[in-house]
Amino acid sequence: MCGIVGYIGKESALDIIIEGLKHLEYRGYDSAGVAFVEKKKIKKIREKGKVDLLKKSIEETKIKVHSAIGHTRWATHGSPTKENTHPHSDCKNKIAIVHNGIIENYLDLKRMLKAKKHKFSSETDTEVIVHLLEENLKHYPIFDSILNTINVLKGSFALLFIFADYPNLMIGIRKNSPLIFAEKENNFYFSSDIVGISSYVDKAYFLDDETIVFLNNSKYSFFDFKGAEKKIFPKKVEKSSFFIEKKGYKHFMLKEIFEQPEAIRETIQDRYSIERGEIDVGVDESLFENIEKIRILSCGTSYHAGLIGQFYFENFSGIETSVSLSSEFYYRDLEDTESTLFIAISQSGETADTLKAIRKIKGKNKIISITNVSESSITRESDAFILTHCGPEISVAATKTFTSQISLLFLLALSIAQKTEYIKKEKIISFLEELRKIPIQMEEILNKSESIEKIAYKYYQKESFLYIGRWINYPVALEGSLKLKEISYIFSEAYAGGQLKHGPISLIDEGTPLVAVAPDDRARNNILSNIEEAKTRGAEIISIGTKGDNELLSLSDAMFVISPVNEFLSPLLTTIYTQLFAYFIALRRGVDIDQPRNLAKSVTVE
Ligand code: AGP
Repeated sequence: MCGIVGYIGKESALDIIIEGLKHLEYRGYDSAGVAFVEKKKIKKIREKGKVDLLKKSIEETKIKVHSAIGHTRWATHGSPTKENTHPHSDCKNKIAIVHNGIIENYLDLKRMLKAKKHKFSSETDTEVIVHLLEENLKHYPIFDSILNTINVLKGSFALLFIFADYPNLMIGIRKNSPLIFAEKENNFYFSSDIVGISSYVDKAYFLDDETIVFLNNSKYSFFDFKGAEKKIFPKKVEKSSFFIEKKGYKHFMLKEIFEQPEAIRETIQDRYSIERGEIDVGVDESLFENIEKIRILSCGTSYHAGLIGQFYFENFSGIETSVSLSSEFYYRDLEDTESTLFIAISQSGETADTLKAIRKIKGKNKIISITNVSESSITRESDAFILTHCGPEISVAATKTFTSQISLLFLLALSIAQKTEYIKKEKIISFLEELRKIPIQMEEILNKSESIEKIAYKYYQKESFLYIGRWINYPVALEGSLKLKEISYIFSEAYAGGQLKHGPISLIDEGTPLVAVAPDDRARNNILSNIEEAKTRGAEIISIGTKGDNELLSLSDAMFVISPVNEFLSPLLTTIYTQLFAYFIALRRGVDIDQPRNLAKSVTVE
């Protein structure tokens, strides 16, 4: 987690750093800080809270410099106090560091450094790095000291260093945490993510793992961790058609909910032809040969997309599919043969748990990843990747990436079916025709957002919610419940409808709100029975069903309707209601919707 930015050049460094940190705030927003060199000393400005507070403090100082590093923090080691805010510096205040990642052996290092009389001023793991470098510099030149320092660190780190005695030097290092370097007309930039600097550059170096960038007096070179120089080539920076602005919406989340029809269009277009009845997701078809099993790895919302994808692979290609939380997969002892295909799903492409899970099977099994970020760690470590074309998702709560992932899983499963001929071409064409209609059907729902707002306002004071769904809409219930708790801080839990009677029904009392995702699909009759059972015990039913389902309407205290749709695609429509419902409840509760407490968009720690 955390975002880091660095700049040396002709412009005002602090303006560029602040702008970059604002774009990286999705990676953490507990505190933020900058460091630069002033009068041969490291100067730091740090604030607890969001980047805007830091911006204000910097503006008050009226300082102008041409080189600086900055950090926005998601606290791991040490609470979010000013002392623990990055940048950190050494005992003599000659070196400053910003860090994204975790140093696993920091306690041992700290003990050793304290014995050598180093004084620590924070509880962070990061501070050991700068003291270790200071210690090495007592004996070795800078470059060797850097190598000696990073080679004893265990864990993940993207680092930037500046030096009071060498104001034209900036060193960037990447291991297991992302870092990008770019240059334009003698301006030099570092950032954890391209969004931090994309407005300034056209090309960038997306650094490989274990890379050092040594930037000194406007000259730069890349090295590996043994100190050997290496060649890296810059890549074109894609300017997204989705701007990182709220475009008149009150929150990024609302804007991103409304962008879903466009995100789906962008994601699926050019990947299929109804006329030819063909699908091409851009993956070498040899990967689809002789698959006996599929395992999907993902976390959070991406895990819920995987649960929906499971039905696509099993139903369209007859391949047994399982979905695992990446964070738990690592501990399993599995005997998979080469014929098991792995699919990793991650919006950010940087989720540490998913990265660790794919590293466990890399080389043994083929991995296809689905991400929203082309140069992310997960795409780079997979045998093939397919991108959702959603544009950046800024709100911490994932919305448009979820529905786009589902649409891609749908296409991927159909393209395997096309290869294995498990289902007939006519059937594939009819599925594609249904998929093509989805963006318009989504727009119909979005146009009714005011009515959803009214219903959400009736329930916003409830202390807890239950969600139910069955079959392919059970993951929608899980996702709806996650959205609600994530942004409104209301406790909620989701169950497969059939499970209520196995325990959770005891929670139902007079007025317990129960959101039931019950469109017209193969599970509809069964879930109606579950709703009835809950209603009999006092639950207030907020249902999501298909237009014309009067039986469901009669059981519901409030009902949201979708147009008739192929049952496999209904999650793309029912989800929109759960997102808007959660959004309007959170809005009424007056919480920070785009940046909920304790969270970060990209979870780069295990
Ligand atoms: C969803 O709203 C969350 N912010 C979170 O669960 C997220 O989906 C999860 O951390 C996985 O992220 P990824 O898709 O970037 O791997």
